[in-house]
Amino acid sequence: MRHRVPRAPSVFAVRVERETGVSEQPGQERVLDFLAVPTLRVEEGTARVLFANAAARQFPFILEVTGRSTLVNQEGSPLPSEQHPVKRAARGEPLEGVLFRWARPEGERTFVVHARLDRSCSPGVVTMSFQDVTQWLRAESDLLRALGARDTFLSVASHELKSPITVLQLVLERLQRGAHREGSLPGSVLAERLEPALRQVRRLGVLVQNLLDVSRARNNRFVLDRERFELGGLVREVGERFVEQARQVGSELTVEDCPQVEVHWDRLRVEQALSNLITNAIKYGAGGPITVRAEARDGAVSLRVEDRGIGVPEGDRERIFNPFERAASGHRVESLGLGLYIVREIARAHGGSVGVMGRDGGGSCFTLRLPLEVTEGEYE
Ligand SMILES: Nc1ncnc2c1ncn2[C@@H]1O[C@H](COP(=O)(O)OP(=O)(O)OP(=O)(O)O)[C@@H](O)[C@H]1O
Ligand SMILES: [Mg+2]
Repeated sequence: MRHRVPRAPSVFAVRVERETGVSEQPGQERVLDFLAVPTLRVEEGTARVLFANAAARQFPFILEVTGRSTLVNQEGSPLPSEQHPVKRAARGEPLEGVLFRWARPEGERTFVVHARLDRSCSPGVVTMSFQDVTQWLRAESDLLRALGARDTFLSVASHELKSPITVLQLVLERLQRGAHREGSLPGSVLAERLEPALRQVRRLGVLVQNLLDVSRARNNRFVLDRERFELGGLVREVGERFVEQARQVGSELTVEDCPQVEVHWDRLRVEQALSNLITNAIKYGAGGPITVRAEARDGAVSLRVEDRGIGVPEGDRERIFNPFERAASGHRVESLGLGLYIVREIARAHGGSVGVMGRDGGGSCFTLRLPLEVTEGEYE
């Protein structure tokens, strides 16, 4: 038989207690104040809040049962008052792990709500908890993204490693057949036939080097081998190395005059970083002009690589620097999504940074900013 029990104190009684120090709460409910999870006790039918623990009082939306709600649905429109979790629970609806989104100017938060109705008294009392799972959901979606990117990487990487090997095998088999048939091949024929094999071996070398660098960077083992040298020499040398490759896709590569400064960097690593940026400008630059320039200011050098190609959408400008990430549009099958990650790690190892901006009139501008002097042990 259900029996009427004395009412638990209303939320207003809780407020009175806070303000006066006089407690009207039954002992059990006082314990709930020590919980970090917002918890309510609600009267069945009326949706009257009988008790709100300290954590629940931090979140206004929990107690805003009537009026315009700050809870929103999937489309971001406010939830009708009848859909408020307190109202639903008071109607006897079972809420087990139901997600509710709370829209705030500082950013949305998601709560998982559980409600248990106790009908051993009359009217019944619902105990509800509201757990903030915003961070977990974010971590989950980041993890899913990273896993997806890694799966794509594995399939692209196996394809990338396989195709040079196939070409290499064909070239060597052809050479072997030629050698059997003709006894000895003239040096010029041999050199010509070996050319594609060498190209594929170089390509394989770059791929394997990139993979090695990624595993080094991930284990914080990017150890720098610093030396003092003149900036202009490095920029010109790397730029010149790519002029021909750029020309083959219709791009004119220009290296602007460099300021005369001495830097204290790992020369090979900075060459690698600049090469990765220029290779990208060639790959994604749609055959337009490419400019490389350096600027020294406030104890740091900014190396800029600018192209007039497909550009990087604003929403992708952070994540393309993560390993295996490629922007949604324009990526090509032979790209692994490692180049910019390696640039970022080289920049970090030097105590610098790398970023991308859109360019007026289309294309993108990547800036690698490195301090002139690198202090020991900055890369932790
Ligand atoms: N200059 C650029 N213009 C437009 N998009 C770019 C540019 N540079 C990089 N991106 C985008 O960023 C992504 C990541 O670049 P990243 O250099 O890390 O990898 P990748 O070029 O795809 O492969 P790889 O490992 O061979 O360098 C690219 O896939 C591309 O979508
Ligand atoms: Mg690249």
